[in-house]
Amino acid sequence: MKCRTCGGKAVVNMRQHKLALCKEHYLDWVPAQTARFIKKYRMFAPQERVLVAVSGGKDSLSLWDILHRLGYQADGLYLGLGIDEGVGYSAESRRLTEQFAAQRGLTLHVVDFPQTYGQNIPNLAALTHRGQGRPCSVCGVAKRHEMNRIARDMGYDVLATGHNLDDEAAVLFANTLAWSQDYLLRQAPVLPGHDGLARKVKPLCRFYEKEMAAYALLSGIEYIYEECPFSVGSTSIYYKELLNQLENTRPGAKLSFYLRFLEARESGMFNLPEDSPPPLFRCPTCGQPTQYEGKCSFCRMMEKTETP
Ligand code: AMP
Ligand code: FES
Ligand code: ZN
Ligand code: ZN
Repeated sequence: MKCRTCGGKAVVNMRQHKLALCKEHYLDWVPAQTARFIKKYRMFAPQERVLVAVSGGKDSLSLWDILHRLGYQADGLYLGLGIDEGVGYSAESRRLTEQFAAQRGLTLHVVDFPQTYGQNIPNLAALTHRGQGRPCSVCGVAKRHEMNRIARDMGYDVLATGHNLDDEAAVLFANTLAWSQDYLLRQAPVLPGHDGLARKVKPLCRFYEKEMAAYALLSGIEYIYEECPFSVGSTSIYYKELLNQLENTRPGAKLSFYLRFLEARESGMFNLPEDSPPPLFRCPTCGQPTQYEGKCSFCRMMEKTETP
């Protein structure tokens, strides 16, 4: 297999794009494509300040690397969730994230949950009895709250996450099975900011997970191989496996599922005006925006952990 650009030996063969590339040209192709997606979906302008949520995994570290290479002003945010399970998941992912930032002289903000709120995520989930034994939904609420808080308090224009195509296609599949119009409407490469809610972008949403793994590996990025130990056996992993089976027999199916959805969404299939989201309320406890009047879901969750 030969590199399409230079004719040298290809190290990556992407059947889904009918494209093979050598190491050098693959490491050029990924950032060039990312730059194209950032422009196409109007994610952010060159002078805007980006806060990248970095988990220590291949996707978010690669995203930070790519934005840095493209010359964007991108700082990192790592959230220490206090998950000791697995290889000591949180401690190890924090070590790798801090190492990545130090090697490149990048600014990293760290919020440690147990230190800041006196609880780690698994305890928080047990105390609030949410999520049927899995801390993932509690974790999601906590992560969203903290990401928005830091982005807003520190004056960032936009918050970027490392969601890849496999993540987006699995969520899309779940929401399509349930025909959840509200969720479908809220799934996009860019969610505009409003009423104190930071603009959210997913610059890697069109890259297959294996493309990001190849990028991290070929760029020599050290990342945590382990997934969150609580994700084992989750529905989203099951949907990813199903979509991979489909992809194996029909290369490109995953990408086309996602892209055709974005087109349908753009053409107004869900007939709700995207650019006029319902106004948000302000949480009386933390001041963050919330969908309903009264305390936000994070503050309501934290309230349940207080001893009477
Ligand atoms: P996940 O929900 O674990 O699939 O992660 C999706 C994205 O959320 C990652 O690509 C990161 O951008 C962000 N993220 C997840 N966990 C953390 C964390 N502990 N700290 C900062 N960002 C995170
Ligand atoms: Fe939060 Fe797994 S429970 S990352
Ligand atoms: Zn080449
Ligand atoms: Zn609140």
